[in-house]
Amino acid sequence: MGMIECKNVSVVYNNEVEALHHIDLAIKGPTITGIIGPNGSGKSTLLKAILGMAQFNGEINIDGVTSKKFLKKIAYVAQKSLIDLSFPITVKECVSLGILPSLGLFKRIKKADWKRVEKALDIVGLREQEQRQISALSGGQFQRVLIARCLVQNADYLFLDEPFVGVDMISEDIIIKILKNLRNEGKTILIVHHDLSKVKDYFDQLVMLNSKVIAAGATAEVFNMQNLKCAYGENIFVDRGE
Ligand SMILES: Nc1ncnc2c1ncn2[C@@H]1O[C@H](COP(=O)(O)OP(=O)(O)OP(=O)(O)O)[C@@H](O)[C@H]1O
Ligand SMILES: [Mg+2]
Repeated sequence: MGMIECKNVSVVYNNEVEALHHIDLAIKGPTITGIIGPNGSGKSTLLKAILGMAQFNGEINIDGVTSKKFLKKIAYVAQKSLIDLSFPITVKECVSLGILPSLGLFKRIKKADWKRVEKALDIVGLREQEQRQISALSGGQFQRVLIARCLVQNADYLFLDEPFVGVDMISEDIIIKILKNLRNEGKTILIVHHDLSKVKDYFDQLVMLNSKVIAAGATAEVFNMQNLKCAYGENIFVDRGE
């Protein structure tokens, strides 16, 4: 399993901005899929449509079921996270928020749940920092906290919107290794990303957007100059480090 299908999906904001235009996509898991395209090309909107956070026309199914019934199975880290960094909360408390969607109303976090929180902190390398305030963390450490919060959610799908913006190289390396491990364990991961130099190292599959799908498929087949020019315009320059 692990299949996201978009059939003829369009999103229009305020009756005027057409952010997505007749999107047809089939994203197969377990994989890491990159979503790339210029600013304003609808990358964040695509994640939000699948999450049910943006109104769309068309049909979106996950594992053959309408995506609206599926939300608990998707963990999501928004672009420039919505969490208020000055909010007085420790690293450990912040990660424990990932438990909440699976708790019933008025139920308390159990000992076994805290063990899951600690394990997630181990995985992202922040166990020793668990009592620190989130406001004291670097951008990269904070992004790792958000990844840990997704880990305790234990979702089948993981959506990350520009997770490497403002993140140091060490944290970026740690995060991509964790994500590759999760993929190997069977998760399906979607990452909105803008650094084209890393595309070949990071992603199994690619969706190239510019309101429409410019190209989608295996990274090796899709990531070429012709498609890039189509998505970004003629003046595209990619440093492939070759
Ligand atoms: N809530 C909203 N209301 C109105 N228009 C919106 C809204 N969200 C996005 N848009 C518009 O829809 C289009 C696509 O936006 P979106 O945020 O999906 O692009 P993006 O590819 O994620 O861009 P970026 O690289 O800057 O993050 C843009 O023209 C944007 O201005
Ligand atoms: Mg965006």
